[in-house]
Amino acid sequence: MNDRLLRTARRQPTDTTPVWLMRQAGRYLPEYRAIRGNIAFLDLCKNPDLAAEVTVQPITRLGVDAAIIFSDILIPVEAMGIHLELGDKGPHFPDPLRTPADIDKLGVPDPVEGTGFVAEAIRRTRKALNDSVPVIGFAGAPFTLAAYMVEGGGSKSYIQIKRLLFEQPEVAHRLFQKLTDTLIPYLKMQVEAGASIVQIFDSWGGELSPWDFERFSLPYLTRMVTELKATGVPVILFGVNMTPHLPLLKRTGADVIGLDWRCPVDEGRRILGPDVATQGNLDPLHLFLPREELDGRVKDILRRAGPTGHIFNLGHGILPPTDPEAAKFLVEAVHKHGAALRQGTLG
Ligand code: CP3
Repeated sequence: MNDRLLRTARRQPTDTTPVWLMRQAGRYLPEYRAIRGNIAFLDLCKNPDLAAEVTVQPITRLGVDAAIIFSDILIPVEAMGIHLELGDKGPHFPDPLRTPADIDKLGVPDPVEGTGFVAEAIRRTRKALNDSVPVIGFAGAPFTLAAYMVEGGGSKSYIQIKRLLFEQPEVAHRLFQKLTDTLIPYLKMQVEAGASIVQIFDSWGGELSPWDFERFSLPYLTRMVTELKATGVPVILFGVNMTPHLPLLKRTGADVIGLDWRCPVDEGRRILGPDVATQGNLDPLHLFLPREELDGRVKDILRRAGPTGHIFNLGHGILPPTDPEAAKFLVEAVHKHGAALRQGTLG
C-alpha cells in the first residue's frame, strides 16, 4: 500500500509529501456530476456501490495519496432522529432543535443499524482500491453538528446555538454528550470496516472564542480523539479560523492538526511543537491562479512545512467551479517538489 499518509501522520519519513484534497469527490468532477444527475445526494450517500465508485474517482483522476469515504458529516445526525434535507443551498433541518424536549427526544443510534451503509461503502471502496491507498473515515465534531441542528442550517452569526450555550449551558452539554456518544461508535464502525485513519471536522468551532471553545468543544473532541486512538488509527483534527485555538487543539492529543490558509504553516507548526503532524493549507481559490504562481505557492508551503510530518491539502474544501486539471497539476507539483525538498534540490 502507498503508506505516505499514514507514515506522515506518525511523523515518520517518506519519499515525498502525501496529498489529498478535502471534498475531492464532488461537483467539480464531471464523472461525479454524471452519477449525481440520476440520484439525490443523500440517496447517493446511502448506496454503498455508488458511494464507493465516487470515492475512487479522484484517486484515478488525480493520483492523490488517500481516499476519503463519500458521505457527509450530517449522516449520523439524521440517524439520531432529526429530519434532514440536503438541497442546492446546503443542509437544512426543517424542525431545528429549539427546546430541551427536542434534545431529549434524540436517540443514540446503533451505528450499524442506523448507518451501516457507510461501513459497507468503506468495505467496497477498499476492495475497489485493492489497498493501493488508505481510506480515510470521518465524522463532524459535536459543536459543528449541534450548530447545524440548532440553527436549522448554515448560519452567519450562530445566534441560536450561542444563545443555547450561554442561556442553558447544561442543556447544550446534554446535546454534545449525546452527539459524542453517537459519533465514537460511528467512527469505530468505520475503522472496523477498513478506514486506516479518521478525520474529525470541527468546521465551525472557530466561531467560538477560545474560552467557549475550551468549555463547549474541547472536552468532547478530546474524548473522541482518545477513544479513536485507542483503536490504533491516527486521528486528524480539522477546523477553520482556528489559529488562535491551536494550543487548545494540541491538548486533544490528535496526531494531525489541520491549518487553514490564514495560518503560515511554519507558524502553526511552531505553536504545535514537534510531536504533532500538520495538514493543509493552500487557499482553495489558489487553484484559480496561473499555473506558474500555483507552483510557487506549493513550493512555499512545502518549504515552510519541511520534509516530515506534513500532509498537503487545501485549507478547506475544493470548490465546484474548480478545473480538475488544476487539481491534477497541484497533486503532481506536491509530489515532484516534495521529493526535491527531501533531496535538497528544491532551491
Ligand atoms: O471530502 C470528500 O470528498 C468526502 C465527502 C464529504 C462531503 N461532505 C460530501 C458532500 C465530506 C468529508 C463532507 C464534510 C462536510 N459536510 C462538512 C465538513 C467539511 C467542511 O467543508 O467544512 C460540512 C460542513 C458538511 C455539510 C455540508 N454538506 C454542506 C455545507 C453542504 C452543501 C455545500 C456544498 O459544498 O455543497 C453539503 C453537501 C455535500 N457534501 C456535497 C458533497 C459532495 C454536495 C452535494 C451535491 O452533490 O449536491
